Amino acid sequence: MQKGGVGEKMLNFLSKVVRFLRKCIFSVLSVGPVPAHVAFIMDGNRRYARQHNLKEGAGHDAGFSALMSMVTYGCELGIKYFTVYAFSIDNFKRRPEEVEYIMNLMLEKIELMRRKDSIVNRYGVRIHFSGNLQLLREPIRDAAKKLMAVTANNSNALLTLCVAYTSTNEIIQAIQKSCEEKWVENQEPGRAGCGPINLVEIEKQMDMGIAPD
Ligand code: FPP
Repeated sequence: MQKGGVGEKMLNFLSKVVRFLRKCIFSVLSVGPVPAHVAFIMDGNRRYARQHNLKEGAGHDAGFSALMSMVTYGCELGIKYFTVYAFSIDNFKRRPEEVEYIMNLMLEKIELMRRKDSIVNRYGVRIHFSGNLQLLREPIRDAAKKLMAVTANNSNALLTLCVAYTSTNEIIQAIQKSCEEKWVENQEPGRAGCGPINLVEIEKQMDMGIAPD
């Protein structure tokens, strides 16, 4: 399409109309009950690529774009908490080329989200990473930390990105931390034998404790 041509002007006009209509519909919908927390599981990326005769990686790219659209619409609806299960610890067992592609894509997208004009910054979304970040390559881990720092003051919504994550790993880590805390407590004078760890103490140590159920 010719840049600045009639086609492009028409497309811009239509997208403005669509955005306006979406705003109208969402302002009506948000009068009703809106969920506090919505979680997504990335799935079907490779099937999507196959069905559309695309390279496998393009499916993951499309998956990330779909996620950003969901966050955009969710924010416009007034949802405050989003969680996405993007990459589990088990996913590291995939073909090395696929893991490599996803890791590069992850780095690219994290850096994109850090930009001032990114969807997360425009919509005031704070980013939190959940998972064993030690399993990620250093540049990704650093980029993730920078993204959390850059968005720390965004207060409209919270998006938790679960990478190198499995719930069993999270539970084990939370129990270990609770035991360590209890052990320290038990060393305090007069507090020996202050009872076994309980559910509230474990929940306090869960990564997911940052958002409501
Ligand atoms: C699931 O679809 C997708 C994944 C396991 C990886 C998705 C990860 C990304 C798109 C990168 C995300 C980036 C950030 C910054 C969070 P699948 O591969 O299992 O598809 P299938 O069900 O068709 O096999």
